[in-house]
Amino acid sequence: MSYPSGRHFLQIPGPTNVPDRVLRAMDAPTIDHRGPAFQTLALDILELLGPVFGTKGPVVIYPASGSGAWEAALVNTLSPGDTVLAFDTGHFAALWREMAGKLGLVVDFVPGDWRHGVDPGVVAEKLAADTAGAIKAVCVVHNETSTGVTSRVAEVREAIDSVGHPGLLLVDAISSLGCIDYRHDEWGVDVTVAGSQKGLMLPPGMSFNAVSEKALQASAGAGLPKSYWDWRPILKGNRNGFFPYTPPTNLLYGLKESLAMLYDEGLPQVFARHARHAAAARAAVRAWGLAVVCVEEREHSASVTAVLLSEEHDADKVRDLILDRFDMSLGAGLGKLAGRVFRIGHLGHFNDLTLLGALAGVQMGLQLAEVPIHPAGVEVALELLRA
Ligand SMILES: Cc1ncc(COP(=O)(O)O)c(C=O)c1O
Repeated sequence: MSYPSGRHFLQIPGPTNVPDRVLRAMDAPTIDHRGPAFQTLALDILELLGPVFGTKGPVVIYPASGSGAWEAALVNTLSPGDTVLAFDTGHFAALWREMAGKLGLVVDFVPGDWRHGVDPGVVAEKLAADTAGAIKAVCVVHNETSTGVTSRVAEVREAIDSVGHPGLLLVDAISSLGCIDYRHDEWGVDVTVAGSQKGLMLPPGMSFNAVSEKALQASAGAGLPKSYWDWRPILKGNRNGFFPYTPPTNLLYGLKESLAMLYDEGLPQVFARHARHAAAARAAVRAWGLAVVCVEEREHSASVTAVLLSEEHDADKVRDLILDRFDMSLGAGLGKLAGRVFRIGHLGHFNDLTLLGALAGVQMGLQLAEVPIHPAGVEVALELLRA
């Protein structure tokens, strides 16, 4: 056999499974991106994007992975030597910090154990101590894809306001948008960074900055060098439905369809669906007698569950075995969790049986890898999902 029969189980926490409806929508001729049909498509999409971000403001679209939108958020709002306050909540927070350093920013990086989200109390403390006003932005990863831990963005905003600090709030919502309740405007987020390949159920290759009025004002004086990422020519072109570069036309066809699917289901229902599957996944993990990385009940991610193995078991070997035997991809442990953790993605185009299939594969894989577990995990998830 040169190929495994049946459908591959893509249970990494992004890229996620692309619905057939979205695949079909993208399967169309690429059109002139300076012509009237594209203009109509772009104007529609720019209008449709607001609700999923919870904003009435502009959303900038880049033909780039999420990292590009990270960079865009920084270079459009900050100047060389500015200080940003960031938190070591996981691998992606650490990568964003590294990028900020490379761009010439000073990062006040608050240590963390990768099992908790950002502590709003520490945000307030740090900003209250910043009497010189050195800190220009607070960077928060809403859903740490590497750990399955969320940070309470609304409380971070309250903490910033509680001490009257003028810093911008930049939030990475790459693996929360379209999965976990997110409110750019209501939470006073200044730049939301997102990507196509997670809750938006699209292939990778497109990313976003939702931009507040305050961020737009900051961009007028932001001195970090930028060209491709510069919001201004993009926002100017977007007013008429055009882009200053070649846009990812076929991904935009897909985006229109995936937004229609999300709005058709209803965002509150989408969030509830993710929360329900995450609760069933955690229940299975606990029934196996294993631990999840997140230790705070209110900080559990609804899009990914990171499962911690004891030191004598190699999580990568378990993943390899599961891929080999059951044709299922699980997320690897990243950074300092490499080999210690595997991650079950339960986000995007996903239902009860997808979760049960994934959990069945994990349970069999753990047993075959001789990780001692109680075989009750799948049964516990079945009971929860049947209820
Ligand atoms: C939370 C988070 N931030 C940033 C990134 C980086 O995005 P990309 O790999 O699309 O550049 C990822 C990727 O998985 C992520 O999960």
